[in-house]
Amino acid sequence: MSRALLLALAVSGLAAPPVAAESIGDPARGASLFDRQCKACHQIGAGAVNRVGPVLTGLFGRRAGGVAGFTYSKPMTRMGNDGLTWTLQTLDAYIENPKALVSGTRMNYRGMADPAARADLMAFLRDYSDKPRDIPEAEPTARKTEPGLDPAILAIEGDPEYGAYLSSECSTCHRTDGTDAGIPSITRWPPEDFVVAMHAYKSRLRPHPVMQMMAGRLSNDEIAALAAYFATLE
Ligand code: HEC
Ligand code: HEC
Repeated sequence: MSRALLLALAVSGLAAPPVAAESIGDPARGASLFDRQCKACHQIGAGAVNRVGPVLTGLFGRRAGGVAGFTYSKPMTRMGNDGLTWTLQTLDAYIENPKALVSGTRMNYRGMADPAARADLMAFLRDYSDKPRDIPEAEPTARKTEPGLDPAILAIEGDPEYGAYLSSECSTCHRTDGTDAGIPSITRWPPEDFVVAMHAYKSRLRPHPVMQMMAGRLSNDEIAALAAYFATLE
């Protein structure tokens, strides 16, 4: 459409024609990524069955840990019970770094760093959902636009003494002897895993409301300090 015509439409108050739904990525490239990086453990499409990993048909809009007959890890089941649902945003985070979203997940996959490749893969996975073409429209905010965790945040050197001071607030729920009495243990984690987990609550990718609130109140330096302190606890 010419600029003059668009201008005329705008001036006359007529709506411009609807813009085509933005595509997520290239499903053909996604299919070949799936073959190389997921297929060893997952099946998708007609006749798919659970293997090492659960069936991935109909993934979008589904609760995490929701495939009947598949035995999930305890953390994945907990996340599903908390309300974690697979959307473009949560899937993107899980494929980028599975344990950032679900610490202790049994999915033994190192993650896919390239955002464009992840987008292609999700375009492929979306084609096996109930109403593939509705997904971007139904979830206008589900597109993860900001990049993953800033490497500068991961590079912050935490002060364990300051972490010890801050930790009194955490030990009302988390046991410092490393046992899990209903609330997961957070001692002796690699600091990087601890930091990405806390930021996943802070950015509300992880659904637990109490932890979202706890993490939301902490600065990047405070999170690094807590990670350093809990990493060294015996
Ligand atoms: C080495 C095997 C393995 C590979 C490779 C693997 N997965 Fe998984 N995947 C699993 C297992 C096992 C689980 C269950 C995790 C748990 O219970 O913590 C899982 C869970 C998932 C889930 C959550 C499903 C649900 O029902 O909640 C998604 C989504 C997923 N994988 C996507 C992928 C994608 C996409 C790839 C390729 C980029 C991939 N996986 C590669 C083994 C694998
Ligand atoms: C009111 C109780 C409570 C307090 C206080 C609390 N937590 Fe949590 N925390 C939880 C619960 C419950 C979970 C499991 C949440 C879930 O399923 O995502 C959790 C999960 C976590 C996890 C992820 C564990 C995993 O295996 O995925 C980390 C890391 C964590 N908390 C750190 C902290 C830190 C650091 C503090 C102090 C600043 C803190 N928590 C304070 C209850 C609490």
